[in-house]
Amino acid sequence: MKIVSVVEEMKHISRSLHVENKSIGFVPTMGALHDGHLSLIKEAAKYNDYVVVSIFINPIQFDEKKDLLAYPADILRDLEIAKKIGVSVVFKPTVNEMYPSGFCTFVDTEGLPQNLCGSNRSGHFKGVSTVVVKLFNIVKPEIAYFGEKDFQQAVIVTRLVKDLGMDVKIAVLPTVRADDGLALSSRNVRLSGLERGDALCLFEAIKNAKMLVASGVTDATSIKKSCLRIINAKKSVKKVDYVSVVNRDTLLDVPFIDESALLAMAIWVGETRLIDNCSFAECIV
Ligand code: PAF
Repeated sequence: MKIVSVVEEMKHISRSLHVENKSIGFVPTMGALHDGHLSLIKEAAKYNDYVVVSIFINPIQFDEKKDLLAYPADILRDLEIAKKIGVSVVFKPTVNEMYPSGFCTFVDTEGLPQNLCGSNRSGHFKGVSTVVVKLFNIVKPEIAYFGEKDFQQAVIVTRLVKDLGMDVKIAVLPTVRADDGLALSSRNVRLSGLERGDALCLFEAIKNAKMLVASGVTDATSIKKSCLRIINAKKSVKKVDYVSVVNRDTLLDVPFIDESALLAMAIWVGETRLIDNCSFAECIV
């Protein structure tokens, strides 16, 4: 496994692979690798000749310095995991390598980031879009892999690739959950024992919402109210950023549940922000 920190070296490797007609599957991450990342890496390995994983805690997508400083980082562990699973190249640039002095070009998708996480995390998706475009230009993958847990991110990246005519296919894979249902996230390592238990309220809310829809309830207000009841009953939940029912493509609020509806939630459990979501296609009666 190659470990690369310099942009020009990564570009050179990608160019050489393409000259040899080899395809690159790319998994962008901020490290603290977990089974969710591993499912993306495995999928990338299935459909591509080489797998590149980036590990870069992107400072410009954090709206709060505190959140950036608290983001889990363990590069030695990550490198070991990546090597074991057969990653071909880990690209782990420094902040200065990605944003050298004078950097002033940003990518923004209008509209899509305004709702959900965009309304609570100002500039977050501009930071994500900018780094993703930059990483795609450096790694030049055929296919890039994202998780459905970060649903809004996946919608925005899919949109910007289409709008900018970029030559990369976006694959979005299902959320990977722990045995008890908690969606895997790098942030989970920050939860205390009590918080880890309370964080399950997101999955409980999802199960309950699906049960309601399966029993014929389709109005979004009732679904949201029932989710909030479950979430707010937990002691460690400090704040609810949003519980929304939106259209999967536009991310705009919708009044009723149908095949295109998505329940999306973001809450703070202690000092940790967690998100989760689900669709209802399989439970609509
Ligand atoms: O989902 C993430 O880990 C990040 O937002 C990404 C896509 C690696 C961009 O920094």
